[in-house]
Amino acid sequence: MADTFPIRRVDHVRHYVNNARQSAFFYQHTFGFSITGYRGLETGSSDLVDYVLEQNNIRLVFTAPLRPGLPMSDMISRHGDFVRDIAFEVDDVDWAFNEAVKRGASAELEPYWMEDDHGKVRHAAIKTYGNVLHSLINRDKYTGHFLPGFIEKNEPGDPIGLLEVDHCVGNVELGKMNEWVKWYEDVLGFKNLISFDDQDISTEYTSLMSKVMASGNGRVKFPINEPAPGKKKSQIDEYLEFFGGPGVQHVAMLTDDIVHTVSRLRARGVPFLSVPRTYYDELEARVGQIDEDIEVLADLGILVDRDDEGYLLQIFTKPITDRPTLFYEIIHRKGAQSFGKGNFKALFESIEREQALRGTL
Ligand code: FE2
Repeated sequence: MADTFPIRRVDHVRHYVNNARQSAFFYQHTFGFSITGYRGLETGSSDLVDYVLEQNNIRLVFTAPLRPGLPMSDMISRHGDFVRDIAFEVDDVDWAFNEAVKRGASAELEPYWMEDDHGKVRHAAIKTYGNVLHSLINRDKYTGHFLPGFIEKNEPGDPIGLLEVDHCVGNVELGKMNEWVKWYEDVLGFKNLISFDDQDISTEYTSLMSKVMASGNGRVKFPINEPAPGKKKSQIDEYLEFFGGPGVQHVAMLTDDIVHTVSRLRARGVPFLSVPRTYYDELEARVGQIDEDIEVLADLGILVDRDDEGYLLQIFTKPITDRPTLFYEIIHRKGAQSFGKGNFKALFESIEREQALRGTL
């Protein structure tokens, strides 16, 4: 099928945080990212500080205000630390921006050049749900590191095999999922890969609905969740309440050795959602033969699911913020390019158990 909005890749995921220095330290010492770039007072940035962290093809940026009264402070005050921007690298920023706006996107930043001694980078941004942006970036005319204005840093982490961003999930309000599905279809030419309804993903008390959207070349995947009515408060409603509106619920990072990656993360104290041991009793009957030792997966709490093309292994951290909002997923795909219903339900039930412990169910 024709790709009507070519996206090369997720260029970076930018978080707005209160304290970028501590965020950078956390991601360096838990997830093993290297601190590779910086902008702040020392480099002439008087209002904002940014840390750039990298591991293989994943680039995270942490941005914090350096003084009171900046517009970003209001957003951080409302949402807590949050994902502000899922930036795309594109072939032609001007075409992409104009086309997106023509197809119905709201503009955040008109295309402009960022320049320094190493060349120039074209940048623009459009708004998606909540306070989330999609920057559009092209650095074909740039030989420096990351973006103009940044200095290179060399503070290596101890990497754990995280390779690239697999998908980013958005939580939106009741009744808004299909609006945003249509937005991704109309504006960015995404296709609906798979849908889960409130029958698929539910417990006795709560449920949700979800549609997985994928870019024309399949490289960028954005599931969108909305709460569904139930006897108790859906975990999506819990998110919306604590976050103060729609936003990014989780970012999934790809590994090609999930046992290694998760063992390292557990050793560094990263807390994961727990899975009942009974999940593993039926595992082989459900997913068939797999390469991994099921006992090892059970000890680490790794989930397994299957689609027509193969299987996948996943695990979810607990929220990495004080609020029950943003968390991470580690995913290892062995043939499966989609998302399994069994794991989605296991994740849903696991979050609901945590929600009950928080007293917010
Ligand atoms: Fe996910």
